[in-house]
Amino acid sequence: MSTSPFKNDILKGQVALITGGGTGINFGVGLVLGGHGAKLAITGRRPNVLEEACQKFKAQGIEAVGFQGDVRDAKSCEKVIESVLKHFGRVDLLVNGAAGNFLCAAEDLSSNAFQTVIGIDLLGTFNMSKAAFNALRDSKGSIINISATLHYGATIYQTHASAAKAGVDSVTRSLAIEWGKYGIRVNGIAPGPIADTEGMKRLGAGIGEEVVAGKIPLQRFGTTQEIGFAALFLASKVASGYISGDTIVVDGASWLSRESFVTPEIYQHIAEGRKQEQSSKPAKQSAKL
Ligand code: COA
Repeated sequence: MSTSPFKNDILKGQVALITGGGTGINFGVGLVLGGHGAKLAITGRRPNVLEEACQKFKAQGIEAVGFQGDVRDAKSCEKVIESVLKHFGRVDLLVNGAAGNFLCAAEDLSSNAFQTVIGIDLLGTFNMSKAAFNALRDSKGSIINISATLHYGATIYQTHASAAKAGVDSVTRSLAIEWGKYGIRVNGIAPGPIADTEGMKRLGAGIGEEVVAGKIPLQRFGTTQEIGFAALFLASKVASGYISGDTIVVDGASWLSRESFVTPEIYQHIAEGRKQEQSSKPAKQSAKL
């Protein structure tokens, strides 16, 4: 981990539950939260993935335990929360990171495929938040929903995930206003292209990293650690205690940047023309008072 600008014990005594915490961005979030004192519970569908991730966390000195579960199933979420409470006695932070996605044109997308992604991302976020409600009310904890920027404009071949993440952002805002009175803050993080993740493998379509990076204003992919630090900021009551209902975009300005029909070459041509025009004008006489 790059040297942290935060004290390494700012989450000491806190328990973070991360759905989909065994891999990718969510695993990276776990490394940062755990590296700052949080104990981790991770959940996902594949016990071997959870086990492997816990070993990696432990190798970093992070206390971590995995509980198998499926966020699409409300009962499964309740069971996970029961297990976390039995094991750690509390939940201070819920990171709803479990997600599913793939590239598929709308005309080829089956109803079940659409429903599957809505089920994991949107229903899963609601199910786990609801299951964790009592525990979060007791700890005056917070929720971080891992979202996306797909739906800020519209994203081709991702009707399913765009709709799901739009719903996730809506849940973030609704829960923030309903649960604020219990001291629960609810926020989101919308990552852009993040290196070495399942998302980039699935959605990058095999296009070279340098080609994609060249289209990002900051000219590079983000890292899972950078998403982790955004999560750490949102997890810290001291740093972000008055932030709720917000979704922080961490994408190197990617979503703001649209391909323009004015290419750099065309602009260069215009700029040269302007310079020539100005240099051929007679210098202005300064006005005499
Ligand atoms: N293109 C089109 N449809 C697809 C698809 C693809 N690449 N992958 C799955 N589907 C469809 C299936 O055909 C099925 O629909 P059908 O019954 O009409 O045939 C439906 O989606 C459900 O697929 P299934 O494999 O049964 O679901 P699952 O619950 O086992 O897996 C997924 C869920 C599909 C989201 C799977 O990709 C997954 O588990 N992903 C988790 C990791 C992930 O996506 N990370 C990316 C984060 S950005």
